Amino acid sequence: MARRRMIYEGKAKILYEGPEPDTLIQYFKDDATAYNAEKRDVIEGKGVLNNRLSEHFMTGLNQIGVPTHFIKRLNMREQLVRMVEIIPLEVVVRNVAAGSMSKRLGVDEGTALPRPIIEFYLKDDALGDPLVTEEHIIAFNWASQQDVDDMIALALRVNDFMSGLMYGVGIRLIDFKIEIGRIFEGDFQRLIVADEISPDSCRLWDIESGQKLDKDVFRRDLGNLADAYTEVARRLGVLPRNGSTVPGPKLVQ
Ligand code: TMP
Repeated sequence: MARRRMIYEGKAKILYEGPEPDTLIQYFKDDATAYNAEKRDVIEGKGVLNNRLSEHFMTGLNQIGVPTHFIKRLNMREQLVRMVEIIPLEVVVRNVAAGSMSKRLGVDEGTALPRPIIEFYLKDDALGDPLVTEEHIIAFNWASQQDVDDMIALALRVNDFMSGLMYGVGIRLIDFKIEIGRIFEGDFQRLIVADEISPDSCRLWDIESGQKLDKDVFRRDLGNLADAYTEVARRLGVLPRNGSTVPGPKLVQ
């Protein structure tokens, strides 16, 4: 097979040219980074789990009419996605105070918020992805007012879907980050959910015990990250409960 053209390599994923125009292949690596890549490790199996979990979430979103870039999973580590013009913002939705918001505002982690709070961060590693306001976004032309309104509407729909899905398997969706891209259809542009949705980009706490089942396990050295992601995948039925992805032979008596 001809060598594929790499379009972009990020911290946890690689994008290759896709087989058809306006498509890309998104490859999930096992690399884990935190604190703007100051902490890094390779977690065997993380890429496989995130590929499956992102497929699960994006397929569900597509089915309820929330547009995403996901087309289909190709194999254990790759999925076919639509090429988008990525908006250079991380859109964070918070249901419960945690992480950087708790630190910045002195609100105890675990404090339920009266309504979901949406924040925008500029995607700029050199600046450490700073928090920005709608005023900044429009003034510096990172997106239009209409885009901001559409991004908020998309993010809230993703929040409702993901919160319900997680609640059904005993997990509280504390917060998450999504990235959004533009696609062009004739003279029109539309915003769709891009990148990935996985435990790398969400905070997920067990409802009963409060146990963390997301990337904070790695960020804060709380245990085995792959075990936490496997637990999320099992609860959602993405992996069978016995742990193997292929049904084993049945004993016939
Ligand atoms: P934060 O509390 O560190 O701002 O993170 C909020 C949510 O966004 C959390 O679920 C983790 C996610 N996130 C990312 O996926 N990538 C990032 O670069 C950052 C800063 C946060």
